[in-house]
Amino acid sequence: MVAKTQFGLEQLLVEELRVLGAEKIEAHNRAVSFEGDLALMYRANLCLRTALKVLLPINKFKARNEDQLYDGIKKINWNQYLDKEGRLVIRTSLKSELFNHSQYVSLKCKDAIVDQYRERFGVRPSIDLTHPDLSVDIHINQDEVTVSLDSSAESLHRRGYRTDSTLAPINEVTAAGMIMLTGWNGEGNYYDPMCGSGTLLIEAAMIAKNMPPNLNRPQFGFERWKNFDQMIFSQVREDAVAAMRESKANIIGSDKTFKAIEISRENITRAGLDEDIKVSNKRFEEVKGPDGGGLMIINPPYGERLPIEEIGAFYKMMGDQMKKEFNGFDVWVISSNIEALKKTGLAPSKKIMLYNGALECRYHKFEIYKGTRRTEFKTE
Ligand SMILES: C[S@@+](CC[C@H](N)C(=O)[O-])C[C@H]1O[C@@H](n2cnc3c(N)ncnc32)[C@H](O)[C@@H]1O
Repeated sequence: MVAKTQFGLEQLLVEELRVLGAEKIEAHNRAVSFEGDLALMYRANLCLRTALKVLLPINKFKARNEDQLYDGIKKINWNQYLDKEGRLVIRTSLKSELFNHSQYVSLKCKDAIVDQYRERFGVRPSIDLTHPDLSVDIHINQDEVTVSLDSSAESLHRRGYRTDSTLAPINEVTAAGMIMLTGWNGEGNYYDPMCGSGTLLIEAAMIAKNMPPNLNRPQFGFERWKNFDQMIFSQVREDAVAAMRESKANIIGSDKTFKAIEISRENITRAGLDEDIKVSNKRFEEVKGPDGGGLMIINPPYGERLPIEEIGAFYKMMGDQMKKEFNGFDVWVISSNIEALKKTGLAPSKKIMLYNGALECRYHKFEIYKGTRRTEFKTE
């Protein structure tokens, strides 16, 4: 199988897969390949925090033009995966000079599949973008075509606890990865002072409880497959729930807008985490870290379109506040605005490159202790 992820999270995913019992694990660019049985495929979908998709490759062949592509796809016996009245979707990703239009490749592959059914049965499956029974993933690397079944279907960052909001929420997989990159052990104080819709808080609480991130998700792609085994899936769910633990973390969030706090409360309730997270409507300028130190992760506004004087003043305020009120905290800040990050006036002890959607970001660690010096950035 192949689990897809985001840039910078591959090693976390390797470790997650190792813990789940996967074998022959190998990291690639934005993906990790591994081996395992059906139960592992179900467990991977339910439990992986840093995976976007779990793909099951079924065929590989070479194609240098669209006719060869069509023939290769048509040679696969599709009826073993999808009934003739079934619903189908095809998604394509390309890294090839021979093929450069993903929608056209999807169309060509669909024709090959549909023609096979028509010739064999006189009827054909329909295309359904939102509720397919089978989601097919085509990846072409130069002339090498990999055909996979997408066992997740909808991306795994859609955990089921967040509705669309007007805020600028961070992707759930990015959020989980950011927390895991800090090496947090799930205990003690965890603070998000610009919590927005609460994504980081919810991911942190799930980590603290060892709660499978996709426990609340309505459905996975594999549940509509012909070989779906309800008994195995129920057992996988039961085992994962039994492995949950009481949280030993004090997880708190705040945000300056009341709307954000309203939305985060709704999301926290939907995730079943009311007991585990406290949020309040406060500005960062007025908050104080709880005693004992801990971990604080901030996803502030990036202000890319604001003049640096304006956004720089905001980042300077963040640096001042961290130093004044968060003694004993490890503070991690993600931002695409490197110039603004420098205005915190604090020297990072770690710098990691990540993406927030399409935005290239820096994820910086600041260790705040009495006597932390304000330092100019020297290198980036
Ligand atoms: C990029 S969003 C955070 C998104 C959040 N991580 C999520 O997943 O929904 C930045 C948040 O910072 C908040 N914010 C901006 N200035 C603030 C301040 N001075 N104090 C507290 N919150 C602030 C905004 O209201 C917004 O919700």
